[in-house]
Amino acid sequence: MAEGFVKVAETRDVSPGEMKLVELEGQRIVIANVAGSFYAFGDVCTHANGPLSDGVLQEDRVECPWHGSAFDVKSGRPLSPPARSPIPTYRLKVENGGILVAVLKE
Ligand code: FES
Repeated sequence: MAEGFVKVAETRDVSPGEMKLVELEGQRIVIANVAGSFYAFGDVCTHANGPLSDGVLQEDRVECPWHGSAFDVKSGRPLSPPARSPIPTYRLKVENGGILVAVLKE
């Protein structure tokens, strides 16, 4: 399997402190702008599948809207319960004002 980058948004679509939900290869992926740096992570909370894109982004921490679990958007690591498992994170790059996320291809 090879890794390929796919453009999912423009940098101007995601202001600092904001998140944007995109869909890529059937997966819901959230793009977060943390003080001008972009990160990509899975939308689905590992506690009970809450939508993290509807939660609150505070610096590099996203809080689930359903029961308050928080995750590090850079590593996916859970920071506060009830979630105990990490969320997936994705490699991302910015090119010519576009945000590209890495996906695995056959
Ligand atoms: S579904 Fe996210 S904290 Fe429960």
